Amino acid sequence: MTSYYNGFPQSDRDEAINMINLDELEERAKEVMPEGAYYYIASGSENEWTWRNNTAAFNHFQIVPRALTNMDSPQLDTEFMGMKLKTPVMISPIACHGIAHKDAEVATQKGAAAAGALFTSSTYANKSVEDIAAAAPNAPRFFQLYLSKDWDFNKMVFDAVKKAGYSGILLTVDALVSGFREANLRTKFAYPVPLDFFTRYQGAKGEGQTVAQMYASSAQKIGPEDIKRIKEMSGLPVFVKGVVCAEDAFLAMGAGADGIYVTNHGGREIDCGPATIDMLPEIAKAVDHRVPIIFDSGVRRGSHVFKALALGADLVGIGRPYLYGLALGGAKGVQSVIEQLNQELLIDMQLTGCKTIADIKHARLTHFNYTADNLKSNTDPSRITPYPVTNDNQLKEEDSATDAVSGASQE
Ligand SMILES: Cc1cc2nc3c(=O)[nH]c(=O)nc-3n(C[C@H](O)[C@H](O)[C@H](O)COP(=O)(O)O)c2cc1C
Repeated sequence: MTSYYNGFPQSDRDEAINMINLDELEERAKEVMPEGAYYYIASGSENEWTWRNNTAAFNHFQIVPRALTNMDSPQLDTEFMGMKLKTPVMISPIACHGIAHKDAEVATQKGAAAAGALFTSSTYANKSVEDIAAAAPNAPRFFQLYLSKDWDFNKMVFDAVKKAGYSGILLTVDALVSGFREANLRTKFAYPVPLDFFTRYQGAKGEGQTVAQMYASSAQKIGPEDIKRIKEMSGLPVFVKGVVCAEDAFLAMGAGADGIYVTNHGGREIDCGPATIDMLPEIAKAVDHRVPIIFDSGVRRGSHVFKALALGADLVGIGRPYLYGLALGGAKGVQSVIEQLNQELLIDMQLTGCKTIADIKHARLTHFNYTADNLKSNTDPSRITPYPVTNDNQLKEEDSATDAVSGASQE
């Protein structure tokens, strides 16, 4: 079913999603979203080289299985900045959830809370920070900040966020201008649903603004002194979101950052930059456990979560997949997406003898630059076509009924 906001169709589903993997949701989401909104989410910048490599580069690292570990029943619980979470998978901040669902961030927060995952709200959220908090009052949440040129605006945001019980700020520093996103130009995308903070504090509606216009109202010049000022003004811990090299990690920590968020904005900003997983080891070495690390960009598998944790991340964020989940199933859809990753992660934990999330940090990975990405896997949606029916490939009923030995194995 569909609702409409000023003629813009919004999903109003609230149902768990049946899926085999997260990749298939990308195609299915087209059924419930107009083209402009869909490509705003799905696309990257320029040739989408970085966007494509974010996921492919996970294959540069391989998980070494462990067998004789005498371990069963692995557990996903983890603690982060004093918050008790049921999974290391985190909801990365994304603007304007109203393009995916009528309940926007309120539904996402409910889904994340049901899965026990950390939710993070964008400055460009449709719903107010108060409404989001009220959707799951005891759930943990962080707030993502696009720093405004206007410090009165920033102060008003900090006060609202703190009062609403958010536990920290993610200061985004990698989107000082919008990346060159051709899909948005092609579809002439503008935010179709108003963004709460812009409605409340700037008098502008947020609605009808292009992505480039929105970024233009944010600060283009951010330096270490801004981190200090935000910490002082907000009284909240500040993570720096958009670190992709050791130099920026050192600068951020030098300015008193409480955490480092390794991301390239899901390949939406600079194209031809490295995949984040390839840069994580360098940053983890620079950080050297002094502050926690959040990681995202390209995560689509439990094994990706595992690799990021093993390479030094404390939490692993997902972006686009949960927004597809929101469109296809509302709060329950978001929960399904997190649980799918949990399920895959638990398999990797069992097969490596990792009982806890802390154990994954000591798991062994190898690093060989070979990939299988020139071949599409059988899980690629484009390969899932009707299987040919021939005279020679059909099971005969009497044969399969008497064959008790070759039933499904555990392989
Ligand atoms: C549609 C869309 C909107 C986004 N909006 C924001 C935002 O408002 N603030 C921000 O810091 N990051 C934003 N991001 C980046 C995400 O926080 C995250 O870094 C990225 O989506 C991770 O990559 P993935 O989508 O491959 O998982 C956005 C990403 C997408 C796909």
